[in-house]
Amino acid sequence: MIGEIGGAAGGEFGGELDLGGLRRVYGTVGHRLFYTLVCRRARHWGWTEPGQSKWRCWRAQRQLEGVLGRKLALPPNARVLDAGSGSGVVARQIAARFGLRVTGVDLMDFHVREARRLSARAALEDRTTFAWGDFHDLEYPDASFDGVYSMETLCHAYDPARALAEFHRLLRPGGRLVLLGPAAVPRAEMPDPQQALLEPYLDAMVLPGARRYTTRTIGGLITGAGFRLEEELDATPYYLPTTEALYAYFRLPYAALRRLGVTEHWLGLRSTVEMYELRHHVAWMVHTAVKDG
Ligand SMILES: C[S@@+](CC[C@H](N)C(=O)[O-])C[C@H]1O[C@@H](n2cnc3c(N)ncnc32)[C@H](O)[C@@H]1O
Repeated sequence: MIGEIGGAAGGEFGGELDLGGLRRVYGTVGHRLFYTLVCRRARHWGWTEPGQSKWRCWRAQRQLEGVLGRKLALPPNARVLDAGSGSGVVARQIAARFGLRVTGVDLMDFHVREARRLSARAALEDRTTFAWGDFHDLEYPDASFDGVYSMETLCHAYDPARALAEFHRLLRPGGRLVLLGPAAVPRAEMPDPQQALLEPYLDAMVLPGARRYTTRTIGGLITGAGFRLEEELDATPYYLPTTEALYAYFRLPYAALRRLGVTEHWLGLRSTVEMYELRHHVAWMVHTAVKDG
């Protein structure tokens, strides 16, 4: 489903879409302040090469977008879908640096408005467009895109298999898919304190996808949707430096918010602290796949 901003209520999707929950995650003032001021509107982690300083988080974010652009490996002017585009930071980077034409879809009307405004300000309106929509069910015709990517959004999917089937439908034969994001590492045993942290974290951040696949099963989901898996990369070592830096910056402020009992307004901060505390149970994966002709 795509459409005008706010064009449908959550219930119309059926399934398990938790639109209210996502609005709570992304709409609180604290969360929006965090992403605007700290992350310069990008809602994703970063990629640090060996030997680079972990403290340069904005550079790491630009490097991660560079990894995405290189894995897409598409010629200039190729049409690309950004599934869960947020404020459009990734779309603008991909458009400006790789010459691609990017269509972003997102469920948050305020993200879509912000993405349009920022693209206009960056004079990238001709290469980036943004629409309100659910990436499980979009109304674009079959084979509309040469590439599809998801930057840390599949973890929000209430039905990852259905979302991947939709990406497959939207790609032309030969089209390329790149998925970047966290996946749970299956372990025989998870110590109780971390188990106690994980479940409330997944609920608070509305991450149903993260419960539906692991590092072991996500590749099967991608091939099950009809793709040929070109590369399955465990990129955790490149992500960990950003995780460590953000934990160092925000551990104490978040502890103060915990004491005040107001953490629900500061989910971005919660993410920086709890993702680090859960680091032994999460891997950061980059999947590249092709829809064969
Ligand atoms: C972690 S943010 C990533 C945003 C962007 N990719 C970035 O890296 O800055 C996840 C985004 O996915 C969006 N989202 C979650 N579920 C979605 C769905 N089913 N369809 C479209 N967007 C969705 C959220 O509204 C949010 O903007």
